[in-house]
Amino acid sequence: MNMAPIASSRLLVMTMVLVFVSLSNSIDFNYPAVFNFGDSNSDTGGRIAAGLESLYPPNGQTYFQKPSGRFCDGRLIVDFLMNAMDLSFLNPYMDAIGVPNFRKGCNFAVAASTVLPATATSVSPFSFGVQVAQFFRFRDRITDIQSKTKKYDRYLPATDYFQKGLYLFDIGQNDLAGAFYSKTLDQILASIPTILLEFEDGIKKLYDGGARSFWIHNTGPLGCLPQNIAKFGTDPSKLDELGCVSTHNQAARLFNLQLHALCKKLQGQYVDSNVTYVDIFTIKSNLIANYSRYGFEQPLMACCGSGGPPLNYDSRLACGETKVINGSPITAKGCNDSTEYVSWDGIHYTEAANQHVASQILTGKYSDPPFSDKMPFLLKLKF
Ligand SMILES: *[C@@H]1O[C@H](CO)[C@@H](O)[C@H](O)[C@H]1NC(C)=O
Ligand SMILES: *[C@@H]1O[C@H](CO)[C@@H](O)[C@H](O)[C@H]1NC(C)=O
Ligand SMILES: *[C@@H]1O[C@H](CO)[C@@H](O)[C@H](O)[C@H]1NC(C)=O
Repeated sequence: MNMAPIASSRLLVMTMVLVFVSLSNSIDFNYPAVFNFGDSNSDTGGRIAAGLESLYPPNGQTYFQKPSGRFCDGRLIVDFLMNAMDLSFLNPYMDAIGVPNFRKGCNFAVAASTVLPATATSVSPFSFGVQVAQFFRFRDRITDIQSKTKKYDRYLPATDYFQKGLYLFDIGQNDLAGAFYSKTLDQILASIPTILLEFEDGIKKLYDGGARSFWIHNTGPLGCLPQNIAKFGTDPSKLDELGCVSTHNQAARLFNLQLHALCKKLQGQYVDSNVTYVDIFTIKSNLIANYSRYGFEQPLMACCGSGGPPLNYDSRLACGETKVINGSPITAKGCNDSTEYVSWDGIHYTEAANQHVASQILTGKYSDPPFSDKMPFLLKLKF
């Protein structure tokens, strides 16, 4: 695999680690296909394919050498998970051109999407319910094509992949983060059950449609994103010991508690299924709190941005964008070495951080049920 040159003074060792399947009751990580739903945390090009936005260099520079449709300098957590399952990267559902191959699955995630249905002022119209509807449209079209010809089989999931495939979810962050612009903390906390009812509704539709393996990421520490610190954390009393916005992390924690309870409930209800809850919040908070132990130097400051320390974030400029502000042109530039940074652009994580998170997920320790050391995976680990 091609890694971009990493000009780091810090020693970065990339090692291929092979962990063999143990014969104990392991999670079956042998999925023929993956169907992913979510927001920018796992959008591999949907928002860009939809024409809602453009991405500029240095997005993509670390791995793809050009903007790849991901809000990142390189790969996302979902890319590393696909890699671990020995599957190719997921093509976005909305990719109309470039011979998208959906044999190993399809990505319905779109950056900025929410669980709750979009409104006129939503940043993304592709809310969870729409993504689930797109999935059924995708499946029905494929079933229809396959009933007529075998010509496209190598581009399309086999019929039984819909039942045997892994259904992956990482959504909810925008429901919470977006709400802080117009609602109080109490209102936001009170809205969590409604968000999760909507989420459960989508899961139920997929289950009724034959899905049997669910893998659900909880939401990260939103309060640690430079975007939120810049907007809601200017008063130091609003920050916690890590320098993150307390209210945002409080909302994320309560959301996760209820999401976990929902997963427990689904585990009880869907006895013929595997429902795995993955605690991304703990992995990311640990990374931000103990960053130097994991080889990072900047836990909060954005790599690609403008304005310099402490956050290097300006909401007026997206990564790579140039604008004339107060009479002079300003560019949100990339840092010299993104592997030192946890935050890529103030809203999304760097490839290095995503790789760290993926490697932690794959230890199995952050899952319910856990699956420690029971999984075959090929993953580049960062030491
Ligand atoms: C759930 O996991 C168990 C243990 O790995 C496995 O035997 C079973 O086939 C899985 N069920 C489904 C529906 O994937
Ligand atoms: C940071 O590391 C310490 C020591 O391992 C651990 O106790 C603590 O929980 C970590 N911080 C976070 C936020 O995870
Ligand atoms: C980036 O590298 C250049 C050349 O080594 C150096 O002059 C500059 O100060 C560095 N910038 C940062 C932000 O570290």
